[in-house]
Amino acid sequence: MSFENIILTMENNIALIHFNRPKALNALNNAMFDDLDQALDQVRDNPDIRVLVLTGAGDKAFVAGADIVELSEMTPLQGKYFSRKGQKVFSKIEDLPIPAIAAVNGYALGGGSEAALACDFIYASEKAIFGLPEITLGLIPGFGGTQRLARVVGNNRAREMVFTGKNITARQALDYGLVNQVCAPEDLMEAVMKTAGNIAAKGCVALRAAKEVIHNGTNTDLETGCRIENDAFGLTMASVDAKEGTAAFLEKRKPVFKGGLN
Ligand code: CAA
Repeated sequence: MSFENIILTMENNIALIHFNRPKALNALNNAMFDDLDQALDQVRDNPDIRVLVLTGAGDKAFVAGADIVELSEMTPLQGKYFSRKGQKVFSKIEDLPIPAIAAVNGYALGGGSEAALACDFIYASEKAIFGLPEITLGLIPGFGGTQRLARVVGNNRAREMVFTGKNITARQALDYGLVNQVCAPEDLMEAVMKTAGNIAAKGCVALRAAKEVIHNGTNTDLETGCRIENDAFGLTMASVDAKEGTAAFLEKRKPVFKGGLN
């Protein structure tokens, strides 16, 4: 199925989504959220897909935020529903059973930073710019940014970014712990796809368990998180891939994980 506002490709166990409104710097409108929502369902329901990568079409932006033209015409209630829609779609990224990587190739402002924050981790081009400039529009972030940014970079850095609306460079984002790796622009996709390929080669039961445990566990206290981990550890022990992984170690060879979900 093809979409008007995004491009979805799936090959070699990796799904790749491009935000695709380059003339508006890939700004997020209602139609793009609808497309993204459907694409995420397809990714989630395809058992061959082990990793999702999100990036922006064109060479300038990942996503320059919510579509300000559309925002400017909304009533307060429409704005509330739009914010909730964005929150739900980004939570769907976070709730995917597989890891999601953001490849931030340019501006990731407002909803762009919020989309990247919903991924499991971020690689960025040296040209990437992050920020939550909503305050400069008389607004606040509405797609989960106030919550996820604080959890990733800490309350004080998040407060400064949200209160001032100032942007940060990719290097600053690396320093903040917002970004895992900064690459030359021409190397970004290769680096992301290499890491995605590395992850996709792992056992899928263990991958899914790891994602779920980190997500669910970090949203609770340490004791409860360890219990969640403990149950999931038992589940991975029952997988075909665990038999293969441990046998391969003892036989001094590389494991070949092909257990699938059964
Ligand atoms: N919405 C709609 N259109 C946008 C847009 C956005 N968020 N960002 C850029 N565009 C459009 C511009 O209007 C322009 O269109 P035209 O060619 O038709 O004039 C085109 O994309 C190119 O943009 P610029 O000419 O502005 O490019 P630039 O290089 O001079 O500046 C920029 C780039 C700094 C990213 C600037 O475009 C900008 O500041 N964009 C807005 C960023 C922003 O405030 N994002 C937050 C949105 S609110 C939000 O996200 C709310 C929420 O959490 C719920």
